[in-house]
Amino acid sequence: MKVNRKAYVINGPNLNLLGTREPEIYGTDTLEIIAERCRDQGRKVGLEVVFLQSNYEGEIVEWIQQAIKEADAIVINAAAYTHTSVAIHDALKTFPGYKIELHISNPHLRESFRHVSHVSSAVDAVVAGLGVRGYDLVIDLLPEMLSHD
Ligand code: DQA
Repeated sequence: MKVNRKAYVINGPNLNLLGTREPEIYGTDTLEIIAERCRDQGRKVGLEVVFLQSNYEGEIVEWIQQAIKEADAIVINAAAYTHTSVAIHDALKTFPGYKIELHISNPHLRESFRHVSHVSSAVDAVVAGLGVRGYDLVIDLLPEMLSHD
């Protein structure tokens, strides 16, 4: 299938440790395995997936700004910055394409400091609690969501 749309999948702090980080919550797949699955799924549905991870808030803000020029969609797991970052909220508000907030776990079932999200009010959809499968499911659905634009 022809690749004609681009999605940035942006991951925040500590997600580079997936595979060994609290596997009872996040599972045992590494971020590289998840990235590979997203890129494969993207190829199947005609979506170019740019998969990124940073432990730095400013770098995530810069990728969101770059996505304005380059991408049709953003999938963001801002990890702990979800609960703290007004800068990421503000950057997401400037992105005109389709935006999905993603979490591996369901933050609402966890500590109360995870119940607040500064990302949710800046995106079109929220996916949480489906484990790492949430990533490929979202990539699978994105072309349909983009066709509504
Ligand atoms: C997370 C949930 C956040 O509360 C946490 O800080 C993370 C991962 C998730 O994917 O479930 O790092 O975003």
